[in-house]
Amino acid sequence: MNTRFLDACWGKPVDRTPVWLMRQAGRYLPEYMAVRSKCTFLELCKTPDLAAEVTIQPVDILGVDAAILFSDILTPVEPMGMKLDFVPGPVFEHPIRTMADVDALRIPNPEEDVPYVLEAVKILRRELAGKVPLIGFGGAPFTLACYMVEGKGSKDWANIKRMMYAAPEVYAALMEKVTMMDMEYLNAQIRAGAQAIQIFDTWGGVLSPTDYARFVLPYTTKLINGLNRQNVPVIHFVKGAGTMLEIVAQAGGDVMGLDWHTNLGKARDILGPGMAVQGNLDPTVLYAPKEVIEAEVQRVLDENAGRPGHIFNLGHGILPTVPPENAIHMVECVHRLSQR
Ligand code: CP3
Repeated sequence: MNTRFLDACWGKPVDRTPVWLMRQAGRYLPEYMAVRSKCTFLELCKTPDLAAEVTIQPVDILGVDAAILFSDILTPVEPMGMKLDFVPGPVFEHPIRTMADVDALRIPNPEEDVPYVLEAVKILRRELAGKVPLIGFGGAPFTLACYMVEGKGSKDWANIKRMMYAAPEVYAALMEKVTMMDMEYLNAQIRAGAQAIQIFDTWGGVLSPTDYARFVLPYTTKLINGLNRQNVPVIHFVKGAGTMLEIVAQAGGDVMGLDWHTNLGKARDILGPGMAVQGNLDPTVLYAPKEVIEAEVQRVLDENAGRPGHIFNLGHGILPTVPPENAIHMVECVHRLSQR
């Protein structure tokens, strides 16, 4: 078993820096497109054998040190009572706007409502045995609420921010329900066999540090405290957290995910030796010539300066038009340049 990834999550020394890529299963891989051409994205998420197949593809092709379950952060929101579509971005037909909308949401029972996710986890633990650990994941309550209130992606997230400021009691009721759903969902993934959990807060950085502390931190803290995580490290990725790392760290978790706006060395100085970090190469570096990719990998490793508890990753998801050979090269560079 390759334990580099889990060891680094716990801050233990490793023989080489472990590496995986956010969105490592996806459209940049022809092997993914071959499976995806036969069904919709949601059908792929809901068919455990196929979800397991595309989860394993990047493990074999890239040689990464961890697998991440193939699904979406919005998968468990659909059984709350919100019809979901991908076009290819997520779209909810009836966004949440009022207290009555919040009251109508139900808290799913993962084993009954998203059995396909848990089945995929079980298949993957069998098929990955002896290879690499499996990361389960969910959206942070705030990022999930962003999509539920806007109904789709947004440039300014004005509807959820308006709710926060103008109808704080509706916002709080929604966040409470989403947090409970998330806790049940992530604990079910742990029971099914997920060996680490990543919480994606893609939009947490659209708030001021003060608003993050007031409107997001209490819920993410409650979520992380509610996870049964004795042996399961929690990675907390908040995009745009660079100006408020000491606040975000208060949510708990074992590993802080960093985007590329943050200098990794400075982030480590702020977070201290008790928290591991994950990141943080700019995803567009993977369009560069091989020698530029190598130099950028070296730069990130230099910023970490050999401190234990670093997992190499991109600062956000890999882009769909990146040549797979460049991602393979990046992984090879991380392993070669970090060899102890
Ligand atoms: O990382 C992995 O390989 C695991 C799979 C995974 C997907 N989505 C598959 C996916 C994970 C971890 C996610 C998380 C996710 N989903 C986030 C948080 C991370 C981030 O990227 O910020 C968010 C915000 C979503 C919501 C979502 N799902 C969006 C905005 C989109 C469309 C974006 C796009 O690139 O077009 C999706 C669709 C989606 N999720 C795809 C994949 C592979 C593309 C769907 C397709 O095959 O058509």
